Amino acid sequence: MGPRGTASLLPGHSPRRPLLPAVLLLLLLLPPPGSGAGAGRPPHLVFVLADDLGWNDVGFHGSQIRTPHLDALAAGGVRLDNYYAQPLCTPSRSQLLTGRYQIRTGLQHEIIWPCQPSCVPLDEKLLPQLLKEAGYTTHMVGKWHLGMYRKECLPTRRGFDTYFGYLLGSEDYYSHERCTLINALNVTRCALDFRDGEEVATGYKNMYSTNIFTERAIALITNHPPEKPLFLYLALQSVHEPLQVPEEYLKPYDFIQDKNRHHYAGMVSLMDEAVGNVTAALRSRGLWNNTVFIFSTDNGGQTLAGGNNWPLRGRKWSLWEGGVRGVGFVASPLLKRKGVKNRELIHISDWLPTLVKLAGGHTNGTKPLDGFDVWETISEGSPSPRVELLHNIDPVFVDSSPYKAECLLLLQ
Ligand SMILES: *[C@@H]1O[C@H](CO)[C@@H](O)[C@H](O)[C@H]1NC(C)=O
Ligand SMILES: *[C@@H]1O[C@H](CO)[C@@H](O)[C@H](O)[C@H]1NC(C)=O
Ligand SMILES: *[C@@H]1O[C@H](CO)[C@@H](O)[C@H](O)[C@H]1NC(C)=O
Ligand SMILES: *[C@@H]1O[C@H](CO)[C@@H](O)[C@H](O)[C@H]1NC(C)=O
Repeated sequence: MGPRGTASLLPGHSPRRPLLPAVLLLLLLLPPPGSGAGAGRPPHLVFVLADDLGWNDVGFHGSQIRTPHLDALAAGGVRLDNYYAQPLCTPSRSQLLTGRYQIRTGLQHEIIWPCQPSCVPLDEKLLPQLLKEAGYTTHMVGKWHLGMYRKECLPTRRGFDTYFGYLLGSEDYYSHERCTLINALNVTRCALDFRDGEEVATGYKNMYSTNIFTERAIALITNHPPEKPLFLYLALQSVHEPLQVPEEYLKPYDFIQDKNRHHYAGMVSLMDEAVGNVTAALRSRGLWNNTVFIFSTDNGGQTLAGGNNWPLRGRKWSLWEGGVRGVGFVASPLLKRKGVKNRELIHISDWLPTLVKLAGGHTNGTKPLDGFDVWETISEGSPSPRVELLHNIDPVFVDSSPYKAECLLLLQ
């Protein structure tokens, strides 16, 4: 307010004289810095990663599949319209947690196969470690897929206070077993891949993974002390194959003829409900107004297993847009501009520097990052610091069959 405004509000006084007392009064009325929710406190960070969710598989992209919870969150937040991931699970997940391209980590080729003795190099500092250093409580629920051949590779050894989920890339949604065909023996062998911390978690048979993961996420949120910053990484099994979903979720999609698509649609709806439940828990716990909530896919949809990337060409595994352009949005009361579509170039490797900055942390201990801090781009719409991105350099064909042979040795 200028002097003229001050004068008109305070008749009978000269324009200048009341200014200083008015400022003093204002200062006295303001709460002291640091008090009150959201007053400079680091935000809670909740990252939901969907698996193999395609461009044309969410309501807000015009899909035939209904996703009311995701649509509402996206509509009230910032839709990422020029957002890229990698074409596959391990590459995307490794870049999310390292902020570095996979050419730096030896993860250029395909994924980490079940019997491959590999994980994200142990000298990489991961996002949860950096957030822990910034004072966060760090939880992970769901799919890891960043290696598990030795204990040092496990999520709980890499920055997460707690972990509940499965370590490989895919498995049965109900039995939580991963089965592998051993070609040389012509037999299929299965093993339980489900962990609570570092212990094998039995007792969850016949319970659909997304429901269990949602329950765990809600329990973590409910028990979280609001004054402590929270990082929750919820990496859902949905909607990766196998195409399994409880019967009741199929009914609304009985009009879909294609059997894969029919099942997939039900899986997406269940996942949408899961996200609705998690955000409802954040709200009822009073955390939401200081939360940055991110939703992202790890790669494009697998069109051979119900996914759809229309109008984008290609699918998971490919470098066409359908393989790498990702569904994503950010929802948060802390965004300066809401209800907008953001067309700036953003890549999955950008989350690490962005989130560490939001957390008030530092990336001093990491190796040189490829990701950029894109918070201003997302929150205010300023131009992205990123002008290009590198998906991969991998001229070498690596035959993965030795890892299967290794499996054979292990299983015999
Ligand atoms: C593998 O086993 C299946 C049945 O278990 C059989 O039908 C098939 O012929 C076998 N294949 C070979 C190559 O032995
Ligand atoms: C969401 O919450 C409702 C109500 O508690 C519950 O019935 C439903 O199973 C939950 N859905 C998921 C996917 O967790
Ligand atoms: C955030 O939510 C809490 C609990 O509902 C409330 O006490 C607080 O005033 C809110 N803070 C802001 C900045 O809205
Ligand atoms: C990280 O780097 C910043 C900027 O150089 C510095 O202010 C801060 O003290 C460093 N933190 C640690 C823990 O080294």
